[in-house]
Amino acid sequence: MNDHASPARYRVAPVARVRGAIRVPGDKSISHRALMLGGIADGETRVSGFLASADCLATMAAMRALGVHIARPHDTEVIVQGAGKDGLQASHAPLDMGNAGTAIRLSMGLLCGQRFPSTLIGDASLMQRPMERVAKPLRLMGARIDTREGRPPVLLHGGATLRGIDYALPMASAQVKSAILLAGLYAEGSTRVTEPAPTRDHTERMFGGFGVTVRRDGATVELAGGQSLRGASVDVPGDFSSAAFFIVAGCLAAADGLTIKGVGVNPTRTGLIDMLRLMGAHIEVSPRAAAGPEPLADITVRASTLRGAVIPPELVPLAIDELPILFIAAACAEGETRVTGAGELRVKESDRLAAMAEGLAAVGVQCELLPDGIVIQGGRLRGGRINSHGDHRIAMAFAMASVRAAEPIEIDDVANVATSFPDFPATARAVGLALAELPTP
Ligand code: S3P
Repeated sequence: MNDHASPARYRVAPVARVRGAIRVPGDKSISHRALMLGGIADGETRVSGFLASADCLATMAAMRALGVHIARPHDTEVIVQGAGKDGLQASHAPLDMGNAGTAIRLSMGLLCGQRFPSTLIGDASLMQRPMERVAKPLRLMGARIDTREGRPPVLLHGGATLRGIDYALPMASAQVKSAILLAGLYAEGSTRVTEPAPTRDHTERMFGGFGVTVRRDGATVELAGGQSLRGASVDVPGDFSSAAFFIVAGCLAAADGLTIKGVGVNPTRTGLIDMLRLMGAHIEVSPRAAAGPEPLADITVRASTLRGAVIPPELVPLAIDELPILFIAAACAEGETRVTGAGELRVKESDRLAAMAEGLAAVGVQCELLPDGIVIQGGRLRGGRINSHGDHRIAMAFAMASVRAAEPIEIDDVANVATSFPDFPATARAVGLALAELPTP
């Protein structure tokens, strides 16, 4: 979703140090889910620490279009008057999910079992992303769904009787798992999903808070159909994926330390910490009392010499959104870093393997692209001009590279940073980055 008021370009001049104590905005995955579960719950749901970014606002607009009353008394406070599980109403217009894969895929699960039809669309990036991975299992449950050659627009016909399935996910995807579980609420019998590797479990944890029972047995989650939800309080922790940029900047340049406070440290999200520690990073995770089901911590990082590493593929799904910034750490490390098992990066907001390889080459880093990964030779970074391909995480990752670059880095097409981290430029400047926001030349 391009916000025309946003600057289109960053110019980030080199700085030798970052420092301070910051907070990052609320978790994107959890904010989407709070709106959806709140929308179909009985009674009121209060969300604090909500991420008011373009992605989550797309979900909010969609839930409102489906007849849910949602108030936002403060930027980060949301009150959802649940419509009840069978209380949603048809939207008069297609639901526009903007740039948000989570919004469109989870909505497929939420809406395919309703008695009315829905059409789901998005921005240019989302309209190119694969939807059959969700449509297929939902069809097995009895849903009628059309995609355009596997991509949006997605037409959910509605009016079907769903039945539970026992489904082995072909890829590690929390979005597919969550869509099936949401549809499972509307299905007869129980729904079981087995993951090839652990993925973020925010849906399962949040279900508990809304009074829905889910059972986990090893790699399988199971949910009995027909359960209803009761409104809940959701305290959204700081987004680990946003903190990740500052964790790496701190590992590279926080001689006196950098602290990120109140970050969600759900173990299905923190693979980046394990990867950086393998590379020699000093990272201190200090747990804090959490109000809900998601663990919370303050994270303090200190500059240290990073060494290249072979990244264990089993960590990849636990850091799936953090690999662009890990690649920047690798580019600044001594020696070679090898990442494999990351083919999913090719179907994110951009082809993140290709976009990162192109950007790393532009700042003088040697790398070799693999079908499912990359090999990066750490070394000196020049400045250069980066095309973010409209991908928020590519843009933010290269902004952080300025702590080790010899010359300024210019990053084009950065408006989509607002999909996940609207205050990123101000937060980056608060830790000492010399980031200027410029209009398109
Ligand atoms: C998400 C799951 C991941 C992740 C995305 C958010 C979620 O996607 O990349 O940013 O909220 O469930 P996949 O399910 O495609 O891996």
